Amino acid sequence: MKRILVIYYTQTGQLKSALNSTLTPLEQAGVFIEYLHIKPKKAYPYPWSYIEFFDIFPETVHGSPTELEPFSINTEANYDLVVIAYQPWFLSICVPINSFLQTEEAKKLLKDKSVVTILACRNMWLNGQEKMKLQLKKLQAKLVGNITFVDKASNLVSLVTVLAFVLAGKKEKFMGVFPKYGVSDKDLRELAPQFGNILLKHIKTNDYNTQQEELVAAGAVIVKPNLLLMEGRGRDLFPLYANYISKKGKAGSTERRTRVRIFGIVLPTAILILSPIITIISRLAPILFPEKIKKQVDYYSQNELR
Ligand SMILES: Cc1cc2nc3c(=O)[nH]c(=O)nc-3n(C[C@H](O)[C@H](O)[C@H](O)COP(=O)(O)O)c2cc1C
Repeated sequence: MKRILVIYYTQTGQLKSALNSTLTPLEQAGVFIEYLHIKPKKAYPYPWSYIEFFDIFPETVHGSPTELEPFSINTEANYDLVVIAYQPWFLSICVPINSFLQTEEAKKLLKDKSVVTILACRNMWLNGQEKMKLQLKKLQAKLVGNITFVDKASNLVSLVTVLAFVLAGKKEKFMGVFPKYGVSDKDLRELAPQFGNILLKHIKTNDYNTQQEELVAAGAVIVKPNLLLMEGRGRDLFPLYANYISKKGKAGSTERRTRVRIFGIVLPTAILILSPIITIISRLAPILFPEKIKKQVDYYSQNELR
C-alpha cells in the first residue's frame, strides 16, 4: 500500500478544501493518507487587524520561525511521498510551514523524500515557491511536483477581495459587486481531481520524471507575465522594507508601529499604481522579448532551483 504524509497549514480552510479535492482520487484508489496540520502556538487572528496583518510582514520575509504547537510524526516511517501544502504570505512561505521546515523533525523526515507542493492562494506564489525550493534543497528533499490553486480574478479585483477577506472576514461578494474571494468551486470540482489522478499515476510507479510536465499541461501551474513582473518588484523591495520595520523593534512592539502603518499604506497603493502599468508592459513584453518571457515562464513552471 502506498503512503502519503500531508503536512499543511490553513487558517480559514481554503487550502484544506483544495487538498481534499486533489487527494480524493488517491484515497479512493487505496492510497493511505496521513494529515499533519501544523499550528502556531499562538493562533493568528481571523479576521486580522490591520496592524497585526502588516506587522507579520518582516518576520515572514526574513523567514523567522515562530513556536509551533507540539506535533508528532514518525520520522522513520516509509512514506512514498510527502505533500507540503502552504500559502504564500508576502511572497514568502507562510510562517507556520516555514517554522516547521526549520525543525529537527523536518530534517529527519524530508531527507531523500519525494515532495509535492500544493498551494492555494490569491495569485502571487512564484517567490514563495522559490524559497520553498531552496528550503527543500537544504533539507535534501526532491521536489517532484507543484500544484497551485489561485483566485483567477484580475489582479486588482483580487487585491480588493483578499483584503476584504483577511481584514474584514468577508468572503462572499464584497460590497455586493466584487466576486467571491479565492479559488473557484469549479477549479476544485473539475481541475483538482485531474491533478490527483496525475499524482496517483506517478506514485504507483514511483517514477516522477514526467509528473510536472503533465501537471502543467493539466493547468496546475499557470505563470502570468504581469504577475511575474509584479513579483519581481516585490522580491527586490520587500527585504528592504522588512529591514526598515524590524530595525525599529521586535514583532508586535509599539516602537515599530508607525513604520508598520506606513508599509500598510504603501503596499496596497504601490500595487494599485503599478498593476495597470505592469499589465501594459507585460502585454508588450512577450512581443518585444518573446524569448526572455518564455524562458521565465518555463523556469517557474518546473521544479529545479536556478
Ligand atoms: C499575512 C498574509 C499574507 C498573504 N500574502 C499573500 C501573497 O503574497 N500572495 C498570495 O497569493 N496570497 C497571499 N495571501 C492570501 C493567502 O495565500 C490565502 O489565500 C489566504 O490566507 C486563505 O488561505 P487559507 O484559507 O488556507 O487559510 C496572504 C494571506 C495572509 C493572511
